[in-house]
Amino acid sequence: MATKVWDGFIRGFHWLLVIGIAVLYFSGEEGWLEIHFVTGYLLLALMATRLIWGLIGSQTAKLSSLFHSPKTVLASLKSSAPFVGHNPAGSLMVLAFFVLIMVQLISGLFTTDDILVEGPLVSYVPYSWAELAGDIHHTNIDILLIAIAVHISAIVLYRLRGKNLVKPLLTGKTTEPVAAAPAMRSGLLAYGIFVVFSVVLLLTWGYEPLMALF
Ligand code: HEM
Ligand code: HEM
Repeated sequence: MATKVWDGFIRGFHWLLVIGIAVLYFSGEEGWLEIHFVTGYLLLALMATRLIWGLIGSQTAKLSSLFHSPKTVLASLKSSAPFVGHNPAGSLMVLAFFVLIMVQLISGLFTTDDILVEGPLVSYVPYSWAELAGDIHHTNIDILLIAIAVHISAIVLYRLRGKNLVKPLLTGKTTEPVAAAPAMRSGLLAYGIFVVFSVVLLLTWGYEPLMALF
């Protein structure tokens, strides 16, 4: 029997995150900073919603379920027993992603290209801080890319060991036997929060770059 393990928001969040990071990477590298800023604000709204959903969302979305002792993490690397939600090793990866993505987003707000464009918080801090934020923005992206490579390799490795983790993230359901079905909440509320954050950010910081795109 299939058990629901990922709610609609977690599934949408993941694939929107993948698209958002790809757009931000290429627009950053190409210097298309209007697209970069608009996408950056949408990703900020998405991440803020994910963190709130980590407090009020489904059991498998909870931030509290991501913390495990090093011993449990090591044990989970060796075992392929069914697990509802992220297993302890996967949880570590998820926490690393949340930190790396937030560092990238927040440092971007303080980053300037030293020519025409600056993040919305640059004018509030001394120039040396903006320089530091720029250095962090340029270095952290490389760490984020390494984390993405490790993440995708782990998913492929699990597949080779006979465990398909991608299918549940697309359908929301697993057919593996589980001890108890997790408590789920409808992702609609989270999408509502995401829309509100997006509109607020696009009407404030995002207004100028958004208009420049048309
Ligand atoms: C930009 C690239 C990517 C990033 C930043 C990323 C990030 C994440 C994050 C943050 C989660 C946790 C979801 C949550 O609880 O909110 C996750 C889970 C997951 N991701 Fe990705 N991901 C990326 C690409 C991919 C790709 C290309 C695949 C498929 C091949 C994939 C497959 C999965 C799967 C299957 C899970 C659930 C793992 C589990 O069952 O514990 N990811 N990813
Ligand atoms: C996860 C989100 C983000 C990613 C993955 C990302 C990625 C990048 C990349 C790859 C570059 C090019 C770096 C280089 O040339 O070495 C860049 C540049 C830049 N980013 Fe972001 N960025 C993100 C969010 C933001 C945000 C939210 C802002 C501000 C609102 C921002 C502002 C900038 C600026 C101003 C530059 C140009 C810096 C320069 O020319 O030296 N970024 N970003």
